Formats: sequence, structure tokens, C-alpha cells
Amino acid sequence: MAESSASPRFGYGEDAHRLGDGLELWLGGVRIPSERGAVAHSDGDVVLHALSDALLSAFALGDIGAYFPDHDPRWKGLESGVILDLVLQRVHEKGYRPAQISAVVVLDKPRLGPYRESIQKNLARLLGLPEERVGLTFKTSEGLAPDHVQCRAMVYLEPLP
Ligand code: C5P
Ligand code: MG
Repeated sequence: MAESSASPRFGYGEDAHRLGDGLELWLGGVRIPSERGAVAHSDGDVVLHALSDALLSAFALGDIGAYFPDHDPRWKGLESGVILDLVLQRVHEKGYRPAQISAVVVLDKPRLGPYRESIQKNLARLLGLPEERVGLTFKTSEGLAPDHVQCRAMVYLEPLP
């Protein structure tokens, strides 16, 4: 049976980076004051990476590693907003747009609560969504992964009007 073009889609993605002294910590396109940041080839923004994979996964388009190989010098220090933009283009080509996201950041330190609003605002801007459709929660790892920053993200997509 032919699939209805009007059916909604969902996608799930994850990312993790090791934390290193004196590096920048970027989450959802926002720089978070922190003694440690992501050890990464790009800016190491686990939120944008998990979201980008979730968006690709919704259409079985593989993952961001295929578009931005981490051995390619062109992508060194890459701002992850560029990755998300490219992925959103693919989503639009499929005739869809993100309608809601739900993301969890797992990080022991620093506390992220004070930055929730600015991260939500920036994600809403990047995705073209109202802030109330950008769910963002924080968890410590309870010491299970004190040297990592992780993100798990779900996205719900609707056909373009
Ligand atoms: O992981 P746990 O259940 O101990 O988290 C307790 C609270 O700490 C949660 O409300 C969460 O929003 C907050 N938190 C935070 N920044 C983190 C981790 C957790 O603000 N890096
Ligand atoms: Mg990453």
C-alpha cells in the first residue's frame, strides 16, 4: 500500500562527547560557562548533533557522520548550526518540518537550569518552532559519566502545509 504523504514522522538521536579542561561547552547553540568543554572535531554541541541525527533518522537518511565526516579538515571547529541547517534542508526537501522536540542533556557539572530558557529560545529560533514546543530537561549522570556530556533527543515532524 502506498504511504500517505500526510502521515507524521518521528526521529530519535543521541550524542556524547568527552569533557576536557579549558575547552568550550556549547549546548543548543549557546555557550555555557564551564571549566570543561567538549573534546570534539566540531564545536561538540551534543544537543545539535543529537537533534540533527533525530531529524535524519525520521527519513532513514543515515546520520550526520555521513554528511560531516570527522576526519574531513573542512569541518574542523565547525559550528553545529551549519549541520542542523543542512539537515533541515533535507527535511524540507522531503516535504516536512519539525513540529516538536524533546531533548535530555545528561551532565554532572555545571548546573544547566539557569541556561534552560536561553537554550530553548535558541533551539526554537533554529528550528522555527514556538518555545512551548521545545522540551528540554537536564539530568546528572549520578557520577556514572562525570567526564562526558550527553544528549538524547526526539523530534516529531509534520508535513509542510
Ligand atoms: O539528575 P538529577 O535528577 O539529580 O537532577 C536533579 C535536577 O538538577 C533536575 O531538576 C535538573 O534539571 C537539574 N540539573 C541541572 N543541570 C545539570 C543536571 C541536572 O540543572 N547539569
Ligand atoms: Mg557530537
